[in-house]
Amino acid sequence: MGRTPLKVTEFDAGGHAVLLGRDALQGMQHVLAGSAAECFILGDANTLRHCLPELLGQVPALRSAATIAVEPGEASKDIGVCQDIWRHLIANAADRQVILVNLGGGVVTDLGGFIAATYKRGIRCMHVPTSLLGMVDAAIGGKTGIDLAGVKNVVGAFHDPLGVYVHVPFLKSLGKRELLNGLAEMIKHGLVRDAAHWEAITTAPLHDLDALAPLVERSAAIKAEVVRLDPREKDLRKVLNFGHTIGHAVEAYSWEGSQRPLLHGEAVVFGMVCAAYISCRMDLLDRGSYDRIVQHLLGLYKPYALESTDHHRIIELMRNDKKNAAGEFRFTLLTGIGSAEVDVPVSAAQVQDALEQMRTLIKPVE
Ligand SMILES: NC(=O)c1ccc[n+]([C@@H]2O[C@H](COP(=O)([O-])OP(=O)(O)OC[C@H]3O[C@@H](n4cnc5c(N)ncnc54)[C@H](O)[C@@H]3O)[C@@H](O)[C@H]2O)c1
Repeated sequence: MGRTPLKVTEFDAGGHAVLLGRDALQGMQHVLAGSAAECFILGDANTLRHCLPELLGQVPALRSAATIAVEPGEASKDIGVCQDIWRHLIANAADRQVILVNLGGGVVTDLGGFIAATYKRGIRCMHVPTSLLGMVDAAIGGKTGIDLAGVKNVVGAFHDPLGVYVHVPFLKSLGKRELLNGLAEMIKHGLVRDAAHWEAITTAPLHDLDALAPLVERSAAIKAEVVRLDPREKDLRKVLNFGHTIGHAVEAYSWEGSQRPLLHGEAVVFGMVCAAYISCRMDLLDRGSYDRIVQHLLGLYKPYALESTDHHRIIELMRNDKKNAAGEFRFTLLTGIGSAEVDVPVSAAQVQDALEQMRTLIKPVE
Protein backbone atom coordinates (compact mmCIF):
# COMPACT_ATOMS: atom_id res chain seq x y z
CA MET A 1 0.00 0.00 0.00
CA GLY A 2 1.41 3.43 -0.95
CA ARG A 3 1.75 6.25 1.56
CA THR A 4 -0.97 8.90 1.65
CA PRO A 5 0.47 11.96 -0.10
CA LEU A 6 1.21 14.87 2.19
CA LYS A 7 -1.26 17.77 2.13
CA VAL A 8 1.17 20.62 1.68
CA THR A 9 1.07 23.79 -0.41
CA GLU A 10 4.41 25.30 -1.31
CA PHE A 11 5.24 28.86 -2.38
CA ASP A 12 8.53 30.04 -3.78
CA ALA A 13 9.83 33.11 -1.94
CA GLY A 14 12.99 33.27 -4.06
CA GLY A 15 15.71 32.16 -1.68
CA HIS A 16 13.44 29.83 0.28
CA ALA A 17 10.15 27.99 0.17
CA VAL A 18 7.08 28.56 2.33
CA LEU A 19 5.17 25.38 3.17
CA LEU A 20 1.60 25.46 4.41
CA GLY A 21 -1.27 23.06 4.82
CA ARG A 22 -2.27 20.23 7.11
CA ASP A 23 1.02 18.39 6.76
CA ALA A 24 3.48 21.28 6.58
CA LEU A 25 5.27 20.09 9.72
CA GLN A 26 5.58 16.61 8.27
CA GLY A 27 7.35 18.22 5.36
CA MET A 28 9.82 19.53 7.92
CA GLN A 29 10.16 16.08 9.48
CA HIS A 30 10.91 14.73 6.02
CA VAL A 31 13.79 17.21 5.53
CA LEU A 32 15.25 16.71 9.02
CA ALA A 33 14.94 12.92 9.02
CA GLY A 34 17.16 12.87 5.96
CA SER A 35 19.81 15.03 7.61
CA ALA A 36 22.38 14.19 10.27
CA ALA A 37 22.55 17.79 11.45
CA GLU A 38 22.22 18.63 15.12
CA CYS A 39 19.31 21.00 15.80
CA PHE A 40 18.68 23.74 18.35
CA ILE A 41 15.18 25.12 18.89
CA LEU A 42 14.86 28.82 19.73
CA GLY A 43 11.57 29.98 21.23
CA ASP A 44 10.13 32.32 23.81
CA ALA A 45 8.38 31.23 27.00
CA ASN A 46 4.93 31.35 25.33
CA THR A 47 5.82 29.52 22.16
CA LEU A 48 7.83 26.87 24.00
CA ARG A 49 4.87 26.26 26.29
CA HIS A 50 2.04 26.34 23.74
CA CYS A 51 3.66 25.17 20.50
CA LEU A 52 6.72 23.04 21.27
CA PRO A 53 4.78 19.90 22.35
CA GLU A 54 2.89 19.83 19.05
CA LEU A 55 6.06 20.55 17.07
CA LEU A 56 7.85 17.63 18.72
CA GLY A 57 4.76 15.43 18.21
CA GLN A 58 4.78 16.10 14.47
CA VAL A 59 8.53 16.34 13.97
CA PRO A 60 10.13 13.47 15.91
CA ALA A 61 13.50 14.33 14.37
CA LEU A 62 13.55 17.34 16.72
CA ARG A 63 13.04 15.40 19.95
CA SER A 64 16.74 15.31 20.74
CA ALA A 65 17.19 19.02 19.98
CA ALA A 66 18.23 21.36 22.80
CA THR A 67 15.94 24.34 23.36
CA ILE A 68 17.01 27.93 23.88
CA ALA A 69 14.44 30.19 25.56
CA VAL A 70 14.23 33.98 25.39
CA GLU A 71 11.78 36.32 27.11
CA PRO A 72 8.64 37.06 25.07
CA GLY A 73 8.52 40.52 23.52
CA GLU A 74 10.42 43.01 21.40
CA ALA A 75 13.04 43.54 24.15
CA SER A 76 14.56 40.19 23.13
CA LYS A 77 15.66 41.62 19.76
CA ASP A 78 18.72 42.86 21.57
CA ILE A 79 22.48 42.50 21.22
CA GLY A 80 22.81 41.25 24.82
CA VAL A 81 20.33 38.45 24.08
CA CYS A 82 22.29 37.64 20.91
CA GLN A 83 25.47 37.33 22.96
CA ASP A 84 23.75 34.91 25.36
CA ILE A 85 22.63 32.76 22.43
CA TRP A 86 26.02 32.87 20.66
CA ARG A 87 27.69 31.87 23.98
CA HIS A 88 25.18 29.05 24.44
CA LEU A 89 25.95 27.72 20.96
CA ILE A 90 29.70 27.93 21.62
CA ALA A 91 29.33 26.22 25.03
CA ASN A 92 27.42 23.41 23.30
CA ALA A 93 30.08 23.06 20.62
CA ALA A 94 27.65 23.96 17.85
CA ASP A 95 29.51 23.71 14.55
CA ARG A 96 28.62 25.17 11.15
CA GLN A 97 26.46 22.18 10.33
CA VAL A 98 23.83 22.80 13.02
CA ILE A 99 20.33 23.92 12.15
CA LEU A 100 18.58 26.55 14.27
CA VAL A 101 14.80 26.05 14.34
CA ASN A 102 13.06 29.31 15.20
CA LEU A 103 9.69 28.62 16.81
CA GLY A 104 7.79 31.80 17.49
CA GLY A 105 6.42 35.10 16.29
CA GLY A 106 8.32 37.79 14.44
CA VAL A 107 10.57 38.48 17.41
CA VAL A 108 11.91 34.92 17.46
CA THR A 109 12.26 34.60 13.68
CA ASP A 110 13.95 38.03 13.36
CA LEU A 111 16.30 37.25 16.27
CA GLY A 112 16.94 33.61 15.35
CA GLY A 113 17.42 34.53 11.71
CA PHE A 114 20.02 37.11 12.76
CA ILE A 115 21.80 34.56 14.98
CA ALA A 116 21.83 32.14 12.04
CA ALA A 117 23.17 34.85 9.71
CA THR A 118 26.06 35.68 12.03
CA TYR A 119 27.10 32.62 14.05
CA LYS A 120 30.27 31.22 12.47
CA ARG A 121 29.54 33.47 9.46
CA GLY A 122 26.24 31.75 8.85
CA ILE A 123 24.45 28.55 9.78
CA ARG A 124 21.21 27.09 8.48
CA CYS A 125 17.87 27.87 10.05
CA MET A 126 14.21 26.99 9.68
CA HIS A 127 11.33 29.24 10.66
CA VAL A 128 8.18 27.89 12.30
CA PRO A 129 6.00 30.98 12.76
CA THR A 130 3.47 30.76 15.58
CA SER A 131 1.80 34.20 15.46
CA LEU A 132 -0.49 35.32 12.65
CA LEU A 133 1.88 38.20 11.89
CA GLY A 134 4.74 35.72 11.63
CA MET A 135 2.82 33.35 9.34
CA VAL A 136 1.79 35.97 6.78
CA ASP A 137 4.69 38.36 7.03
CA ALA A 138 7.67 38.31 9.43
CA ALA A 139 8.92 34.76 8.82
CA ILE A 140 8.82 35.15 5.03
CA GLY A 141 11.42 37.01 3.00
CA GLY A 142 14.77 36.52 4.69
CA LYS A 143 14.97 39.86 6.54
CA THR A 144 16.49 39.38 9.98
CA GLY A 145 17.51 41.88 12.61
CA ILE A 146 17.61 43.32 16.08
CA ASP A 147 16.96 46.73 17.61
CA LEU A 148 19.63 49.11 18.95
CA ALA A 149 19.56 52.54 20.59
CA GLY A 150 15.79 52.60 20.40
CA VAL A 151 15.81 52.11 16.61
CA LYS A 152 13.94 49.06 15.33
CA ASN A 153 15.69 46.57 13.04
CA VAL A 154 18.70 48.86 12.67
CA VAL A 155 21.23 45.99 12.80
CA GLY A 156 20.50 43.00 10.62
CA ALA A 157 21.15 40.93 7.56
CA PHE A 158 19.33 39.16 4.77
CA HIS A 159 19.52 35.44 5.53
CA ASP A 160 17.21 32.93 3.89
CA PRO A 161 15.94 30.08 6.04
CA LEU A 162 15.94 26.53 4.65
CA GLY A 163 12.18 26.79 4.74
CA VAL A 164 9.23 28.44 6.46
CA TYR A 165 6.75 25.92 7.88
CA VAL A 166 3.31 27.37 8.56
CA HIS A 167 1.05 25.36 10.86
CA VAL A 168 -2.18 27.34 11.38
CA PRO A 169 -3.40 25.33 14.45
CA PHE A 170 -0.61 27.01 16.45
CA LEU A 171 -2.89 30.07 16.45
CA LYS A 172 -5.28 28.36 18.90
CA SER A 173 -3.42 29.80 21.87
CA LEU A 174 -2.96 33.30 20.41
CA GLY A 175 -5.12 36.08 21.91
CA LYS A 176 -7.55 38.21 19.88
CA ARG A 177 -5.43 41.36 20.03
CA GLU A 178 -2.48 39.43 18.54
CA LEU A 179 -4.73 37.92 15.85
CA LEU A 180 -5.92 41.40 14.87
CA ASN A 181 -2.29 42.48 14.84
CA GLY A 182 -1.56 39.91 12.12
CA LEU A 183 -4.82 40.57 10.30
CA ALA A 184 -3.69 44.16 9.69
CA GLU A 185 -0.86 42.90 7.45
CA MET A 186 -3.29 40.58 5.65
CA ILE A 187 -5.59 43.55 4.97
CA LYS A 188 -2.55 45.38 3.61
CA HIS A 189 -1.78 42.47 1.25
CA GLY A 190 -5.31 42.67 -0.14
CA LEU A 191 -5.22 46.44 -0.50
CA VAL A 192 -1.93 46.58 -2.42
CA ARG A 193 -2.14 43.38 -4.49
CA ASP A 194 -5.47 41.56 -4.55
CA ALA A 195 -8.97 43.06 -4.37
CA ALA A 196 -10.62 39.62 -4.00
CA HIS A 197 -8.40 38.89 -1.00
CA TRP A 198 -9.41 42.21 0.56
CA GLU A 199 -13.09 41.32 0.04
CA ALA A 200 -12.58 37.91 1.66
CA ILE A 201 -10.75 39.44 4.59
CA THR A 202 -13.45 42.00 5.34
CA THR A 203 -15.50 39.05 6.61
CA ALA A 204 -12.55 37.13 8.06
CA PRO A 205 -13.66 34.73 10.79
CA LEU A 206 -10.84 35.22 13.27
CA HIS A 207 -12.30 32.70 15.72
CA ASP A 208 -12.61 29.92 13.09
CA LEU A 209 -9.14 28.67 12.16
CA ASP A 210 -10.43 26.35 9.41
CA ALA A 211 -11.99 29.31 7.64
CA LEU A 212 -8.99 31.54 8.35
CA ALA A 213 -6.47 29.03 6.96
CA PRO A 214 -7.06 29.74 3.22
CA LEU A 215 -6.76 33.46 3.89
CA VAL A 216 -3.46 32.91 5.71
CA GLU A 217 -2.37 30.87 2.70
CA ARG A 218 -3.29 33.64 0.23
CA SER A 219 -1.53 36.31 2.28
CA ALA A 220 1.60 34.19 2.65
CA ALA A 221 1.49 33.60 -1.12
CA ILE A 222 1.31 37.35 -1.79
CA LYS A 223 4.26 38.06 0.52
CA ALA A 224 6.26 35.20 -1.00
CA GLU A 225 5.57 36.36 -4.57
CA VAL A 226 6.54 39.97 -3.89
CA VAL A 227 9.75 38.86 -2.18
CA ARG A 228 10.60 36.45 -4.99
CA LEU A 229 10.17 39.19 -7.61
CA ASP A 230 12.16 41.79 -5.63
CA PRO A 231 14.18 40.19 -2.81
CA ARG A 232 16.25 43.30 -1.98
CA GLU A 233 13.43 45.85 -2.03
CA LYS A 234 14.59 47.77 -5.08
CA ASP A 235 11.10 48.39 -6.36
CA LEU A 236 8.06 46.07 -6.07
CA ARG A 237 8.72 44.99 -2.46
CA LYS A 238 8.10 48.58 -1.43
CA VAL A 239 4.36 47.96 -1.94
CA LEU A 240 4.54 46.10 1.38
CA ASN A 241 5.43 49.40 3.05
CA PHE A 242 1.88 50.66 2.54
CA GLY A 243 0.76 52.16 5.85
CA HIS A 244 4.22 51.79 7.36
CA THR A 245 5.70 55.27 6.78
CA ILE A 246 3.31 56.96 9.20
CA GLY A 247 2.63 53.63 10.99
CA HIS A 248 6.23 53.15 12.13
CA ALA A 249 6.39 56.71 13.44
CA VAL A 250 3.12 56.31 15.35
CA GLU A 251 4.34 52.98 16.73
CA ALA A 252 7.61 54.55 17.90
CA TYR A 253 5.68 57.50 19.35
CA SER A 254 3.40 55.16 21.28
CA TRP A 255 6.48 53.70 22.95
CA GLU A 256 7.61 57.14 24.15
CA GLY A 257 5.22 56.90 27.04
CA SER A 258 2.54 59.51 26.56
CA GLN A 259 0.06 56.99 25.10
CA ARG A 260 -0.79 53.29 25.43
CA PRO A 261 1.83 51.34 23.40
CA LEU A 262 0.37 50.18 20.09
CA LEU A 263 1.11 46.82 18.53
CA HIS A 264 2.75 47.02 15.12
CA GLY A 265 -0.43 46.06 13.27
CA GLU A 266 -2.50 48.63 15.16
CA ALA A 267 -0.02 51.34 14.19
CA VAL A 268 -0.05 50.12 10.58
CA VAL A 269 -3.85 50.44 10.53
CA PHE A 270 -3.43 54.08 11.59
CA GLY A 271 -0.85 54.52 8.83
CA MET A 272 -3.03 52.78 6.22
CA VAL A 273 -5.98 55.09 6.91
CA CYS A 274 -3.69 58.14 6.59
CA ALA A 275 -2.05 56.80 3.42
CA ALA A 276 -5.45 55.99 1.89
CA TYR A 277 -6.51 59.58 2.68
CA ILE A 278 -3.40 60.99 0.97
CA SER A 279 -4.03 58.67 -2.00
CA CYS A 280 -7.56 60.04 -2.27
CA ARG A 281 -6.47 63.68 -1.92
CA MET A 282 -3.94 63.13 -4.72
CA ASP A 283 -6.69 61.68 -6.92
CA LEU A 284 -4.98 58.30 -7.07
CA LEU A 285 -7.77 56.54 -5.16
CA ASP A 286 -11.51 57.09 -5.68
CA ARG A 287 -13.60 58.42 -2.81
CA GLY A 288 -15.88 55.34 -2.62
CA SER A 289 -12.91 52.99 -2.10
CA TYR A 290 -11.43 55.34 0.50
CA ASP A 291 -14.72 55.39 2.43
CA ARG A 292 -14.92 51.59 2.42
CA ILE A 293 -11.35 51.23 3.64
CA VAL A 294 -11.87 53.71 6.48
CA GLN A 295 -15.18 52.17 7.51
CA HIS A 296 -13.73 48.68 7.64
CA LEU A 297 -10.47 49.52 9.39
CA LEU A 298 -11.93 51.85 12.00
CA GLY A 299 -14.79 49.41 12.62
CA LEU A 300 -12.30 46.69 13.51
CA TYR A 301 -9.48 48.61 15.19
CA LYS A 302 -9.44 51.39 17.75
CA PRO A 303 -6.17 53.27 17.20
CA TYR A 304 -6.18 56.23 19.53
CA ALA A 305 -6.56 59.80 18.41
CA LEU A 306 -3.44 61.92 18.53
CA GLU A 307 -3.66 65.55 19.51
CA SER A 308 -2.57 68.25 17.04
CA THR A 309 0.35 68.92 19.36
CA ASP A 310 1.60 65.32 18.74
CA HIS A 311 1.84 65.79 14.99
CA HIS A 312 5.14 67.62 15.01
CA ARG A 313 6.81 64.70 16.82
CA ILE A 314 5.25 62.13 14.45
CA ILE A 315 6.66 64.01 11.45
CA GLU A 316 10.03 64.25 13.19
CA LEU A 317 10.04 60.48 13.77
CA MET A 318 9.15 59.91 10.12
CA ARG A 319 12.38 61.63 9.09
CA ASN A 320 14.26 58.53 10.35
CA ASP A 321 12.51 56.37 7.76
CA LYS A 322 15.00 54.47 5.58
CA LYS A 323 12.81 55.05 2.51
CA ASN A 324 13.02 58.86 2.42
CA ALA A 325 14.91 60.41 -0.46
CA ALA A 326 16.19 63.95 -1.05
CA GLY A 327 14.50 65.25 2.09
CA GLU A 328 11.04 64.19 0.93
CA PHE A 329 8.89 61.42 2.28
CA ARG A 330 8.37 58.56 -0.14
CA PHE A 331 5.04 56.78 0.28
CA THR A 332 3.41 53.70 -1.12
CA LEU A 333 -0.07 54.90 -2.06
CA LEU A 334 -3.16 53.14 -3.38
CA THR A 335 -4.35 53.57 -6.95
CA GLY A 336 -7.40 51.41 -6.21
CA ILE A 337 -8.34 48.54 -3.92
CA GLY A 338 -5.83 45.89 -4.97
CA SER A 339 -3.21 48.13 -6.58
CA ALA A 340 -0.53 50.52 -5.39
CA GLU A 341 2.17 52.88 -6.57
CA VAL A 342 5.54 53.08 -4.80
CA ASP A 343 7.93 55.98 -4.16
CA VAL A 344 5.32 58.75 -4.38
CA PRO A 345 6.79 62.01 -2.98
CA VAL A 346 4.65 63.36 -0.14
CA SER A 347 5.30 66.63 1.72
CA ALA A 348 5.19 67.23 5.47
CA ALA A 349 2.13 69.45 4.92
CA GLN A 350 0.27 66.55 3.27
CA VAL A 351 1.18 64.29 6.20
CA GLN A 352 -0.02 66.96 8.62
CA ASP A 353 -3.32 67.18 6.73
CA ALA A 354 -3.75 63.37 6.92
CA LEU A 355 -3.04 63.36 10.66
CA GLU A 356 -5.65 66.10 11.17
CA GLN A 357 -8.17 64.11 9.13
CA MET A 358 -7.41 61.05 11.26
CA ARG A 359 -8.21 63.07 14.36
CA THR A 360 -11.64 63.97 13.06
CA LEU A 361 -12.29 60.36 12.00
CA ILE A 362 -11.44 58.91 15.39
CA LYS A 363 -12.85 61.73 17.49
CA PRO A 364 -15.83 63.08 15.52
CA VAL A 365 -16.53 66.74 16.25
CA GLU A 366 -19.63 66.99 18.47
N1 LIG B 1 11.49 40.25 9.11
C1 LIG B 1 10.41 40.79 8.61
O1 LIG B 1 10.20 40.84 7.40
C2 LIG B 1 9.36 41.31 9.56
C3 LIG B 1 8.12 41.72 9.07
C4 LIG B 1 7.16 42.16 9.97
C5 LIG B 1 7.45 42.21 11.33
N2 LIG B 1 8.68 41.82 11.77
C6 LIG B 1 9.01 41.83 13.20
O2 LIG B 1 8.14 40.93 13.86
C7 LIG B 1 8.01 41.34 15.22
C8 LIG B 1 6.57 41.25 15.63
O3 LIG B 1 6.12 39.93 15.45
P1 LIG B 1 4.92 39.33 16.33
O4 LIG B 1 3.78 40.26 16.28
O5 LIG B 1 4.75 37.93 15.92
O6 LIG B 1 5.50 39.50 17.81
P2 LIG B 1 6.05 38.43 18.88
O7 LIG B 1 6.99 37.50 18.29
O8 LIG B 1 6.48 39.25 20.04
O9 LIG B 1 4.73 37.63 19.28
C9 LIG B 1 3.66 38.30 19.91
C10 LIG B 1 3.30 37.66 21.26
O10 LIG B 1 2.60 36.46 20.98
C11 LIG B 1 3.21 35.36 21.66
N3 LIG B 1 2.96 34.19 20.85
C12 LIG B 1 3.44 33.93 19.61
N4 LIG B 1 2.89 32.81 19.13
C13 LIG B 1 2.03 32.36 20.08
C14 LIG B 1 1.13 31.27 20.16
N5 LIG B 1 0.96 30.42 19.14
N6 LIG B 1 0.43 31.11 21.29
C15 LIG B 1 0.54 31.99 22.32
N7 LIG B 1 1.34 33.05 22.30
C16 LIG B 1 2.08 33.23 21.19
C17 LIG B 1 4.65 35.76 21.84
O11 LIG B 1 5.25 35.08 22.90
C18 LIG B 1 4.52 37.25 22.10
O12 LIG B 1 4.20 37.46 23.45
C19 LIG B 1 8.59 42.73 15.32
O13 LIG B 1 9.84 42.69 15.96
C20 LIG B 1 8.77 43.16 13.87
O14 LIG B 1 9.85 44.05 13.70
C21 LIG B 1 9.63 41.36 10.92
